[in-house]
Amino acid sequence: MTAEDVTAQPAIARPPAAGPVQPLVQLTNICKYFLGVTALEDINFPVYPGEVMCLLGDNGAGKSTLIKILSGVHQQDKGTYWFDGQARRFTSPREAKACGIATVYQDLSMIPLMSISRNFWLGSEPTRGVGPLHFFDGPTARRVAREELARIGIRIRDADQLVGTLSGGERQCVAIARAKYFGAKLLILDEPTSALGVREARGVLRYVRQARDEGLGVVLITHNVNHAYPVGDRFTVLGHGHSLGTFTKDEVSREDVLELMAGGEDLADVGADAGVDAGVDDGVDAGADAGGELADE
Ligand SMILES: Nc1ncnc2c1ncn2[C@@H]1O[C@H](COP(=O)(O)OP(=O)(O)OP(=O)(O)O)[C@@H](O)[C@H]1O
Ligand SMILES: [Mg+2]
Repeated sequence: MTAEDVTAQPAIARPPAAGPVQPLVQLTNICKYFLGVTALEDINFPVYPGEVMCLLGDNGAGKSTLIKILSGVHQQDKGTYWFDGQARRFTSPREAKACGIATVYQDLSMIPLMSISRNFWLGSEPTRGVGPLHFFDGPTARRVAREELARIGIRIRDADQLVGTLSGGERQCVAIARAKYFGAKLLILDEPTSALGVREARGVLRYVRQARDEGLGVVLITHNVNHAYPVGDRFTVLGHGHSLGTFTKDEVSREDVLELMAGGEDLADVGADAGVDAGVDDGVDAGADAGGELADE
């Protein structure tokens, strides 16, 4: 990184009426190669504070590779990753986290046999005491965990309750609440709704929207357009490591995004082959329900 890079962040037009806000993230011509495999080629998109950027694409499209670059697990081979106005090349997830980048992976890195409060604080436990005499501050840990969860509508009887007793959606929300509490500016969510039922997916998506409304930039990775569309402000579709385009919501319909993800294939043909209607398998249908109601709010 040179001093020139730091001052030369490209100006990107904000959607109309939103004013001159600098992107939280700007990727320019990001490339990543693995032993001759092109995982990503020339990826460009911004993420603004207070917006949900949906990263969509089929299996092997490059979504995970891209979020690993954003979160410091991998480094780009070419291109520039701007974060908060500076050209970055994070060398570890810890470094990215310290800058305010929180990533919630599908497996959530939670310990089911530990309490909600211990999972909430994991690795950053509050302590009491002075000098070498430090004690885990259980009452503060329990109170803050309970308050933060209440803020997002999850009422727990007892912060000592095991995480294993929470539903999948509630666990996602605890992970997001934790990221927010510890000062994330960018929240990266990897398939947060893929394993959830309709009601739960709706709850998580509502919370994603709340995080966005509080000013965080959110990168939401999903296979499900019906989950992405109601909460997304901007959509980037990846296919075989290439960008198929980045669009604001007023530029594309739900159907346009679905078609892009299918690589132009006619989904009706797929449905006919399988003897079912296109796009009404359980996952998509559940998504439509989850998304539909959310969109009407
Ligand atoms: N560590 C690695 N070594 C070699 N190849 C890799 C590595 N990580 C990813 N790839 C390759 O890069 C491409 C993109 O993979 P990636 O995991 O980013 O896709 P994805 O969009 O997340 O897919 P999925 O939806 O299945 O999770 C694939 O061809 C994959 O095999
Ligand atoms: Mg992946």
